[in-house]
Amino acid sequence: MKIDLSGKPIAITGASSGIGHATAIACAQMGMPVAVMARRADRLEQLVERIRSSGQRAVHLVGSVDDADACCRFIERCASEFGSIYAVFANAGYAIEQPVAEMSIEAVRQNFEVNFFGSLNVIKPALWRMQERGAGHILWCSSCLSRASLPGYASYCATKSAQNQFARAMRLELKAQGIYVSSIHPVGTRTELFDVIERQSPGGASLIDRSRDWTFQPPERVARAVVRCLRRPRAEVWLSTPLRLAMALGVAAPGLADAIIDLLARKRAGGQGISSSGE
Ligand SMILES: NC(=O)c1ccc[n+]([C@@H]2O[C@H](COP(=O)([O-])OP(=O)(O)OC[C@H]3O[C@@H](n4cnc5c(N)ncnc54)[C@H](OP(=O)(O)O)[C@@H]3O)[C@@H](O)[C@H]2O)c1
Repeated sequence: MKIDLSGKPIAITGASSGIGHATAIACAQMGMPVAVMARRADRLEQLVERIRSSGQRAVHLVGSVDDADACCRFIERCASEFGSIYAVFANAGYAIEQPVAEMSIEAVRQNFEVNFFGSLNVIKPALWRMQERGAGHILWCSSCLSRASLPGYASYCATKSAQNQFARAMRLELKAQGIYVSSIHPVGTRTELFDVIERQSPGGASLIDRSRDWTFQPPERVARAVVRCLRRPRAEVWLSTPLRLAMALGVAAPGLADAIIDLLARKRAGGQGISSSGE
């Protein structure tokens, strides 16, 4: 049976661009009141204005997801503005390309603060609200890289795996309480994530080839998949079936999978591969 989403409020982090932005619009089109959070105020104001001008309800809170108090205020804002909270999409995240030997522990920690703990910072207060009502849906924006690691992306992949593991455990914990938990696993998506990687990676982003952007999916495709998942809850949403099957290879034959990834990464990086400068 499909869930009628109309009137069911959702809180979305990382909605100032990309997947979060597209999902906010897609959810509003389903009649969901939408609360959005990110650091760029102007982008959020434009998004809220756009949703309101289409006749739907929207509010925003400017803040960083690594600020637990701001995340609590965000969820409270959603609940007080719309009367309740039905769903939360913990989507804010970023990546840096850097070999482990060169990446500071602080940089790894900060990546976890945003991608993993930043997700938990909104999910926990939303969960308490859902438990009061005995209904809700928690969605983690993980990645296809939750099950496969790329050289240079150890930190990012680890944050995405951690999200995935939490989602799996929470799904079992909350099943009997009427609260769904899903993880979303996008493949390459045309968003500002890659600009951030290029900007923030100290040695540049050699695995990113912008001339191949056309092979990426648009964020609206992920947004539609999120809405489908909200309507018919599923454990995991994969945006590429072949890739999902390839992940099974990684479990059955990790050495072979690593060799294939290494080959592809070297090809992408112009034969150099990603290695620390000490090698
Ligand atoms: N693009 C892909 O190929 C791909 C593939 C798999 C998974 N994903 C995942 O999809 C999610 C969304 O990324 P995207 O591709 O849509 O990239 P994006 O366009 O760069 O969006 C990232 C969003 O996160 C927000 N954000 C970043 N740091 C934040 C912080 N500290 N506090 C609050 N918000 C923060 C950004 O807003 P502000 O800068 O305004 O704060 C932005 O709205 C991420 O979790 C990413 O890991 C993306």
